Amino acid sequence: MRERIVTPGKVSEEEEIYIASLRPQRLAEYIGQRNLTEKLSVSIKAALQRGEPHEHVLLYGPPGLGKTTLAHILAHEMGTRLVVSSGPTLQRTGDLMGILTNLEQGDVLLIDEIHRLAAAVEEFIYPAMEDFKVDFVVDKGAFARVINVPLKKFTLVGATTRAGLISAPLRDRFGIIHHLDFYPAEELARIVKRSAGILEVGIAEEAAAEIARRSRGTPRVANRLLRRVRDYAQVKGQDQIDIAAVQDALELEGVDSVGLDALDRRLIKMMVDFYDGGPVGIESIAATLNEESDTLEEMVEPYLLKIGFLKRTSKGRLVGEPALRHLGFKLKGGRQQEFL
Ligand SMILES: Nc1ncnc2c1ncn2[C@@H]1O[C@H](COP(=O)(O)OP(=O)(O)O)[C@@H](O)[C@H]1O
Ligand SMILES: [Mg+2]
Repeated sequence: MRERIVTPGKVSEEEEIYIASLRPQRLAEYIGQRNLTEKLSVSIKAALQRGEPHEHVLLYGPPGLGKTTLAHILAHEMGTRLVVSSGPTLQRTGDLMGILTNLEQGDVLLIDEIHRLAAAVEEFIYPAMEDFKVDFVVDKGAFARVINVPLKKFTLVGATTRAGLISAPLRDRFGIIHHLDFYPAEELARIVKRSAGILEVGIAEEAAAEIARRSRGTPRVANRLLRRVRDYAQVKGQDQIDIAAVQDALELEGVDSVGLDALDRRLIKMMVDFYDGGPVGIESIAATLNEESDTLEEMVEPYLLKIGFLKRTSKGRLVGEPALRHLGFKLKGGRQQEFL
């Protein structure tokens, strides 16, 4: 998929540096997700009081909502190190073995996209999580022996966009399991103002609110839009970002008043024109748009479902009435009746 400004996922290393510079370091700086931060502030205090590592944490939810940020914060609050790895890079048990044996007492190990761990690696991780040991098989055939390697007590943070793909045995080994949901606009506006403060650029209240409304409930998108708007305002010689700068800059980017971009509009228009608004399977949508169905499911669809622009049914996806209203589309066939 070509680069989209509203994609909630990672786009480039260069952008990662910008994103990392805006990452809150402490729990108190983490905006929103109150259920989770309250739970964590108790569990962190309790672990510190006992002088033990924090329990394992599984975070799931769409990309860009602050899972990696929380892993950083957890390590910071516990006064330990964060080691980052990811499911797709851990394909052999040896890869994980190397990481685990190098962990210090209390270190936080983040495994991003943990749903993509190879099956053998996943089984290898169970005793590591439960008893802080690994059973390593050396030699083959008749000479095969299992060596029991003790580990330092560490904290595993698993992050995933696809909770449904995590096996029950893995899930059960986490002490805290939390689903991160999209952020309300009011919280995103606070995130935008905080980021503007770090970037040392002034922003009007309603300009922050406007960026928030176009950020698809996603802090990563909010920070990315802020960057484009800041550049725009700077080039125009404005020392403060006002709402006109937001509107003009984001119009240039093709991001509309609710955060839809060209791909979203193309997707909905295609469903209306070719399938009378659905139901249509995600594979057919992907084929017609020439996109990967996984990308659509992870990066495009979640927010459209959240705001009712798409609906998921057993027969496939349906265009929702708010999408037709927002885009001024009409269905030709029978389904239009449902909306009258
Ligand atoms: N609750 C929050 N408060 C402030 N900034 C946040 C929050 N959640 C995420 N961010 C910002 O959004 C960006 C993306 O967050 P990240 O942790 O990388 O998301 P994820 O790992 O879920 O994809 C980071 O720049 C981070 O600073
Ligand atoms: Mg992440």
